[in-house]
Amino acid sequence: MDFRPDRYSAFLTPLMMPRRHQHSLGVMRVMGDLSEVYDLDTAQAMTAGLLHDAARDLPLDDLLALAREARIAFSHPAEAHPIYLHAPVGAYLVKKDAGISDPSVLRAIAAHSHVDPADDSDGMLTQCLRAADVLAPISDWKGMARLKSLAYAGRMEEAALLHAGWLVEHFQNEGIPVHPHLHDTVRRLSAKLGPTEAFFERW
Ligand SMILES: [Fe+2]
Ligand SMILES: [Fe+2]
Repeated sequence: MDFRPDRYSAFLTPLMMPRRHQHSLGVMRVMGDLSEVYDLDTAQAMTAGLLHDAARDLPLDDLLALAREARIAFSHPAEAHPIYLHAPVGAYLVKKDAGISDPSVLRAIAAHSHVDPADDSDGMLTQCLRAADVLAPISDWKGMARLKSLAYAGRMEEAALLHAGWLVEHFQNEGIPVHPHLHDTVRRLSAKLGPTEAFFERW
């Protein structure tokens, strides 16, 4: 699959605010880097990065209408929140309007908001997308350098635990519902990796 970012400008520009477009280009570049670290198809990784937030700036009513149109099944009530819903709806738009048919790319976009556990064969593409998403933020946050050091060193499981742990904390602080998949990820990876308290230190 070849990849030309400008091919998707006409699709993305009407959908997103300029800051989101900048974020998407940043995620695309981080995905290019991570594709080399994790031996992923670079064009696939960069496509997922560029298009992952196609539905992030849509109003909730539009997201819900598109979810109905796409027959997206909710597995938990939290998924009606835009922070989760934009991912599967985005994958639907990317397939319908941007001509993307690669199931791995569509699956990573749909799963990047944790509505899917990402433990299938496409898991690494999805996990890289989740990491890239917070490594190319609209504004800097404390902990980014720590997460980047793990993700770029090929230590994706540790990066995924940090990411999920911090996301739970952030959602709780902001009053955003925490999807049970996030708690599951923290539990599963904590049991496997046995992190000390220092593991979650932010820098
Ligand atoms: Fe997103
Ligand atoms: Fe994003």
